[in-house]
Amino acid sequence: MAGPYVDPEPVKLTDLHDSPLGAQERLCSHKKGREIIVTMPNPDAATRTLTVAGLFAGIGGVELGLEAAGMQTKLFCEWWEPAQAVLQQRFPDVPLHDDIQTLPKLPDVDVVTAGFPCTDLSQAGRKAGIHGEASGMVKHLFKLLDDASPKWVVIENVRNMLWLDRGTAMEYLVGEFERLGYTWAYRLVDSRFTGVPQRRQRVILVASRTENPCSVLFADEAGERPESDYRDDAFGFYWTEGNSGLGWAQDALPTLKGGSTLGIPSAPAIWVPGAEPGRAILTPHIEDAEALQGFPRGWTEPALEKAKAGVRWKLVGNAVTVGVSEWLGRRLVNPGTYEESGQELLVQGMRWPAAAWGNADQRWSVPVSLWPEKHEYKHLLEVVDVDKAAPLSLRATAGFHGRLLRSRLHYPQAFSDALKLHVEQMSNPVPV
Ligand SMILES: C[S@@+](CC[C@H](N)C(=O)[O-])C[C@H]1O[C@@H](n2cnc3c(N)ncnc32)[C@H](O)[C@@H]1O
Repeated sequence: MAGPYVDPEPVKLTDLHDSPLGAQERLCSHKKGREIIVTMPNPDAATRTLTVAGLFAGIGGVELGLEAAGMQTKLFCEWWEPAQAVLQQRFPDVPLHDDIQTLPKLPDVDVVTAGFPCTDLSQAGRKAGIHGEASGMVKHLFKLLDDASPKWVVIENVRNMLWLDRGTAMEYLVGEFERLGYTWAYRLVDSRFTGVPQRRQRVILVASRTENPCSVLFADEAGERPESDYRDDAFGFYWTEGNSGLGWAQDALPTLKGGSTLGIPSAPAIWVPGAEPGRAILTPHIEDAEALQGFPRGWTEPALEKAKAGVRWKLVGNAVTVGVSEWLGRRLVNPGTYEESGQELLVQGMRWPAAAWGNADQRWSVPVSLWPEKHEYKHLLEVVDVDKAAPLSLRATAGFHGRLLRSRLHYPQAFSDALKLHVEQMSNPVPV
């Protein structure tokens, strides 16, 4: 592995006066859960700002988080007009190139990010695989890397990428990095670790020719939040499903998606068991969805200049949760320590595990959780504004309830009763 680096131990605030560095301004701190963790900076870490080129930038979820960690974006590449409108308003000083296929070269930056299209990889998508028309665009990243030397490359994509087509997508990605002489590492993470009530599992892959990506992705381990931390006053589900799954989530929304199995970008719904009849089955407002992805409310409003309101769901569903990229950014700026104990050699043909690293010589699986950190949890009803949320329509509720009754799915009887009552209320609204 290139450039192993041993991170100094985190220092508690109470230890500060004993710190060999002494001066507080020489320490950088960040909030982890309810505690303040102060981490001594890597003395070798560059003091200058790390620069970023954001390919397949979408609405800038990756770059917003990296900038919160102190980086500066130098270029966006994004070809979809509604996403371009958001980028241009939210990052007015950053040049924007449209099609990656016509980007002649990468600027001289420290970090290249590429959350390439998941359309052919996701469960909701076409499943054509890594060489499908949309997801296959990632090959242009590798063409551009042929003539560039960024310190870090960051890729983000859906969990299904690990398993689809017996792992072909991962094999292609890591194979390309190995061909180019990079060490790579990836980790499946759940956005709930950042405190947002959205159950969203995504693969974050970091690669470098000169640095150790394990010290970025595996330095933090908080372990999963206990089930008892979740409230039972709100449940998220996908009303577009109901045959083979529900996308059920307690005190959270299931993964916000760019599209659904019905092929339309759609909002999940929320069951609020304690709400009055007619207000118990709701669809969150798009601004709630933005908040559930860690964006400021209203972030995607500029897209309305180019498309209808529904497009905002697709933009938000495609994005990276901002808290995830902020954690990543902090570790890119100041890598930590990776303890190699527990890692196991990955043998060709094995299923891709939830976390791994490798290079042209060797590949290892890494026993870490989906929770690198554990930030204070915002409960679903603390984020979703139930007064702004619209009741799920009669048609949608009746259709979903019918599918559910015909399915073999397990669900709480009280949920089915609530759907039935909602259908009745929506059919005969009681005048207020
Ligand atoms: C999964 S989304 C990325 C989301 C982004 N990481 C975020 O946080 O918003 C993939 C993006 O790639 C863009 N894209 C697809 N093909 C492209 C191409 N040939 N050139 C530039 N952008 C492209 C899509 O329009 C889409 O916005």
